[in-house]
Amino acid sequence: MQISLQGKRAFVCGATQGIGKAIAIQFAKSGASVTLCARNEKALKEVVNELDQSHHQEHSYLCADFSKPDELKKLVEAYTRNFPIVHILVNNTGGPNPGSIVQATSDEFLKAFQMHLMCNHILVQTFLPSMINSKYGRIINIISTSVKQPLPNLGVSNTIRAAVANWSKTLANEVAIYGITVNNILPGATNTQRLQQIIQQKALKNNVSPSIVEEEMKKEIPMKRFAQPEEPAYLATFLASPLAAYITGTNIPVDGGRTGCL
Ligand SMILES: NC(=O)c1ccc[n+]([C@@H]2O[C@H](COP(=O)([O-])OP(=O)(O)OC[C@H]3O[C@@H](n4cnc5c(N)ncnc54)[C@H](OP(=O)(O)O)[C@@H]3O)[C@@H](O)[C@H]2O)c1
Repeated sequence: MQISLQGKRAFVCGATQGIGKAIAIQFAKSGASVTLCARNEKALKEVVNELDQSHHQEHSYLCADFSKPDELKKLVEAYTRNFPIVHILVNNTGGPNPGSIVQATSDEFLKAFQMHLMCNHILVQTFLPSMINSKYGRIINIISTSVKQPLPNLGVSNTIRAAVANWSKTLANEVAIYGITVNNILPGATNTQRLQQIIQQKALKNNVSPSIVEEEMKKEIPMKRFAQPEEPAYLATFLASPLAAYITGTNIPVDGGRTGCL
């Protein structure tokens, strides 16, 4: 089985670090032309320069802040004038802050809803016509295992991820007729800057060392280790490829077995 994304353009969000960056790197290695999206222009330029170009791809980036959906809409509409066809969309952005649901504010829910659901929706509405016209479409959402089993102390995140999962399943059913697939990747604890921040915060809160927090977290994972960002990226690359044409509407954990339900 050989995975090739040659001739495809992918738009990868949250691509300056972590899981998004790993996906962009794997897509480029598999032959795709990749457009990276995030806020930090310097980091975007650095990642563009890291991407494989051995298939004569044309990589690019778009600077956008997902906490401002109206601005994002204008930016991606302008983007499509230069790049009218996007075959593969990876919806991904920074996760909501941790915290109990009892203490969550309306503003936190609204911000997370805008960053995760509204921005995904704007990107899909912008790129869907070109997926239909080019007869190739893959939409991949990076969410969380909390859509199967809510995680403690992630009140806003648990709530918004469930909304995204239901939006995604509904979308999958509507666009299947065009051969376009929509799938969710549910990362478990993955060794990125976000995970390191969460570990530091927990360590401070409980007045213990970060290594103790890390060991406690690993004990809860049957594989006793964190994922590397490449591991969800390999799944994303398969889902983005022609080989995954009959897989749609799914939620696939990449979590070393941590999720306790089926
Ligand atoms: N890592 C884990 O263990 C884990 C587990 C479960 C779920 N997840 C979820 O998976 C997703 C990716 O995780 P990660 O660990 O790779 O996260 P990360 O290391 O924090 O990276 C987040 C990416 O999103 C971009 N981003 C953040 N805020 C943004 C905004 N307002 N507008 C546009 N882009 C923004 C960041 O770039 P800029 O700062 O340049 O904008 C960065 O490229 C997140 O939703 C996370 O909650 C992660």
